[in-house]
Amino acid sequence: MRTGSLPSSPHRALSVLLVEDSEVDAELIIQELRRCGYDITCERVQTAGAMEAALERGPWDLVLSDYSMPAFSATAALGILQRLNQDLPFIIVSGTIGEETAVSALKAGAHDFLAKGRLARLGPAIERELRDAEERRQRRQLKHLLDQQAASFRALFEGNPLPMWVYELETLQFLAVNDAAVRLYGYSRDDFLAMRITEIRPAEDVPALLANLAQRRDNWEHSGDWRHRTKLGQVIDVEVKSHRLPFNGRSGVLVVVHDVTERKRLEAQFLQAQKMEAIGRLAGGIAHDFNNLLTGILGYCDLLLVDLPEGDPRRDDLEEIKRGGEHAAGLTRQLLAFSRKQVIAPRVLDLNAIITDTCRMLGRIVGEDVEIHTGLAEDVGHVSADPGQMSQLLVNLVVNARDAMTDGGKLTIETNNVQLDEHYASMHLAVVPGPYVMLAVSDTGCGMSPEVQARLFEPFFTTKEPGKGTGLGLASVYGIVKQSRGNIWVYSEPGRGTTFKIFLPQVDAPLTETPKLAAPVKGQTAATILVVEDNPALEKLTCRILRRIGYTVLSASSAEEALQISGAHKGPIDLLLSDVVMRGESGPALANQLIAQRPRLQVVHMSGYTEDAIVRHGVITVSTAFIEKPFTPDVLTQKVQEALSGRRA
Ligand SMILES: Nc1ncnc2c1ncn2[C@@H]1O[C@H](COP(=O)(O)OP(=O)(O)OP(=O)(O)O)[C@@H](O)[C@H]1O
Ligand SMILES: [Mg+2]
Repeated sequence: MRTGSLPSSPHRALSVLLVEDSEVDAELIIQELRRCGYDITCERVQTAGAMEAALERGPWDLVLSDYSMPAFSATAALGILQRLNQDLPFIIVSGTIGEETAVSALKAGAHDFLAKGRLARLGPAIERELRDAEERRQRRQLKHLLDQQAASFRALFEGNPLPMWVYELETLQFLAVNDAAVRLYGYSRDDFLAMRITEIRPAEDVPALLANLAQRRDNWEHSGDWRHRTKLGQVIDVEVKSHRLPFNGRSGVLVVVHDVTERKRLEAQFLQAQKMEAIGRLAGGIAHDFNNLLTGILGYCDLLLVDLPEGDPRRDDLEEIKRGGEHAAGLTRQLLAFSRKQVIAPRVLDLNAIITDTCRMLGRIVGEDVEIHTGLAEDVGHVSADPGQMSQLLVNLVVNARDAMTDGGKLTIETNNVQLDEHYASMHLAVVPGPYVMLAVSDTGCGMSPEVQARLFEPFFTTKEPGKGTGLGLASVYGIVKQSRGNIWVYSEPGRGTTFKIFLPQVDAPLTETPKLAAPVKGQTAATILVVEDNPALEKLTCRILRRIGYTVLSASSAEEALQISGAHKGPIDLLLSDVVMRGESGPALANQLIAQRPRLQVVHMSGYTEDAIVRHGVITVSTAFIEKPFTPDVLTQKVQEALSGRRA
């Protein structure tokens, strides 16, 4: 069996480490090797130390070793070779060797053994062992390459920034998970490997998952949007891609996960903002028209009431019409606030002062079984807002809180300075980083479901019985906050209560002085007033009210016409009473031109509505006298008198 042919190509180089104490035997072996055609390089060693030193110097093609020597042995030599991890052919060439010894030498790792008396076998044995050693070397190299490749692929999986795992098709058991999954879900690798994929879903989503898996029997390429649950119970939105992957002999599915929670949240915020914008535009348009109509209805009611004698039974009917009109005017005002089309007079103000003022009447609103607590930061920064709007906002929030605490509870109003940073801004649409004043109104009431929270700020959204709520309270709060360039967020849990947080940008400016109103002066009816209004009914009504008092009234339906009339009028004009938004040139622009011609002219603007731009650009300022539509004859008269009494010098 162990015979083979002689080496086919003679004179091949062979470096042999010879472990042999007998010089004569060594010579015989070398001669035999030469006879076989090897070109021998050889070193003879007889001790462990000498062998180690020789191996160190290497490289060697093979080791030929005597079995036992006075100071060394084949088994000891083999031990050294193995310890140094050198896989060289090791052939024992011994004078005497019993069968059992030979077998145990082979077991210990020797590749062959032969008797010194039968050296003819040496050539073929070496030939074969060199070939085997070469094969072993190649296999080792291949395995090394495969190991390296496997490590790189494992790194692709383990170190991938996207969470990934493989689960078993039949059992739904996790078979492997990567680091990103461990980080995102909070489970350790061992936790995962003891779980099934159903365990990272909200319980209510599991049936849908199982149904989906059942459908996928034929086609395992899947991508879809799912909700997952982390170890802490947080629900996250994920986009998942998966496909079949045989894994360690099991039928696996590879899943790659993309966490889109943050993106979804911002998208939802964006959609919500867009929706509010659209409803706002609609509501603002309606409110504008209603305002003009209501000014007419209420105005003519008042004129009639003046004409009808006391005791006339028709007065009651008129009062009814008037009450209805006033109620409608209140709703219209809320709608305008929501659509941010309310004409406002922003001032630099101290929110704490407004809260303290408003709190005096809040006690009356909330009733006895609600405790009111305030926590107002002493150094709270200034904000720019309309004081009337701010107290309206506070009242709306407080009324809601009261309605939520039917069995009493605690109402807390707080202010604080806060810095909203880049991180916060990146998480909240429409937030500009910077210093803000936070106003928080909290209650311990019934709280709200997520569904109610989602629609809270929509106009006419109410959960209250018909007649109890119009659903305009929070819509107008929303509009007021937005018009003041602020943001509002709600935190609520059913049964736990609600907190509304409003952030208004801080302004670095001193408080606006309250303008002193000049006392109305009687007997200025000799004045001439130019009325400019593009709504014919309102123009007529306004002129009628003013003429009835005794003023001389000129009227125009546009800025252009007003300029012509002023140009043609030889006498003085004391007051311009003009609408703000008109076809053609705006009221404020007209006022500027007329003042240039008539420096003593007083100006009063009237509007129920204005484009944001006019307010934002400060055309309507605190110092501009202003009448909000719808107005009553009394208010009109009073404003006109005030303006005339402060005549420009
Ligand atoms: N503090 C709160 N606690 C619980 N639910 C609230 C709270 N504030 C508002 N809500 C819910 O939001 C809905 C809308 O509130 P909003 O103030 O806009 O309208 P409303 O109070 O129903 O009517 P309106 O204010 O016009 O009289 C309410 O019907 C209620 O369901
Ligand atoms: Mg309300």
